Amino acid sequence: MNTYHGTNVLITGGLGFIGSNLARALVSQGAKVTLVDSLIPQYGGNIFNIDDIREKLIVNVCDVRDPFAMAYLVQGKDYLFNLAGQTSHLDSMTDPQTDLDINATAQLSILEACRKANPTIKIVFASTRQLYGKPDYLPVDEKHPIRPVDVNGINKLAGEWYHLLYNNVHGIRACALRLTNTYGPRMRVKDARQTFLGIWVRLLIEGKPIKVFGDGLQLRDFNYVDDCVDAILMAGANESANGKVFNLGSSEIINLKELAEMMVNLGYGGTFELVPFPPERKAIDIGDYYSDFSLITKELGWQPKVGLQEGLLRTMAYYQPNFANYWND
Ligand SMILES: NC(=O)c1ccc[n+]([C@@H]2O[C@H](COP(=O)([O-])OP(=O)(O)OC[C@H]3O[C@@H](n4cnc5c(N)ncnc54)[C@H](O)[C@@H]3O)[C@@H](O)[C@H]2O)c1
Repeated sequence: MNTYHGTNVLITGGLGFIGSNLARALVSQGAKVTLVDSLIPQYGGNIFNIDDIREKLIVNVCDVRDPFAMAYLVQGKDYLFNLAGQTSHLDSMTDPQTDLDINATAQLSILEACRKANPTIKIVFASTRQLYGKPDYLPVDEKHPIRPVDVNGINKLAGEWYHLLYNNVHGIRACALRLTNTYGPRMRVKDARQTFLGIWVRLLIEGKPIKVFGDGLQLRDFNYVDDCVDAILMAGANESANGKVFNLGSSEIINLKELAEMMVNLGYGGTFELVPFPPERKAIDIGDYYSDFSLITKELGWQPKVGLQEGLLRTMAYYQPNFANYWND
């Protein structure tokens, strides 16, 4: 339990959704936490995400694409939780170069910074289930073919493999978690850039209908953010994770229409409607997806604890009083 007490921890993307929840967990365990975040407005970073812990950590607003800043920031750190990323799949198709710069090139230069300035650091990289593409079989395990359907998936794959290569060749201890849809307090809900669930939360609070694309029968699994944070902390604390990739996931599988029904029945009112798939989204949709996460259960003892209904209730309870800090247009 006390792995992180008194340790020096760097979180890239630390003002974002998962990074800020991770920071809160680490601060409560007594870690000395530094956050790096560029606060690019289109992404999930939000200074309000650390409102309650602002005095308990260091915030460095800078860009992971700056190799000089990163070479300085990795020094003296015991752990690097490498979460900074361009996360919009649509944006990766209209601005592929920026996605490449952040999700691949910057990852390589962060690893180079570690190799040169701090080779004993331990790294956990936030990868994504998106790199599997349209599943050949379900549930998707780590042996499933890799076949990204968008530029983001290709660049995240490069970022992930750079981490594994630096582990295997240079001995920089690193592992990667392939996250599935993660949701909860502090996700970007202003628009659909981060996840459709984000905009659904906003629409529910605004009393507007939730829009479900297509027939709504696409299957998904979801992790509440606290479960995701647990997995990241376990991967960081466990030497046997080094050089490996693990799927995260949930055994609570649900289609998007059922999810919309669950949301409108949470007690906040609301309605949903089925609308045609926007063509640009359909082109990169992966159909049904859910994970086989038995490897991380077996090797690190992780499994999700928070059920979907409970997680959605906690999410709505967070945004209802705080929404003005997440959108004001
Ligand atoms: N949330 C999910 O469902 C999910 C699923 C799969 C993978 N992931 C991965 O997890 C990581 C965290 O995602 P999140 O959901 O918290 O998203 P997020 O957008 O809330 O967090 C990412 C953070 O990185 C920061 N960032 C982006 N580019 C940067 C740059 N160039 N320099 C410094 N900071 C930069 C953003 O400002 C943001 O705060 C990402 O790498 C993402 O690819 C998330």
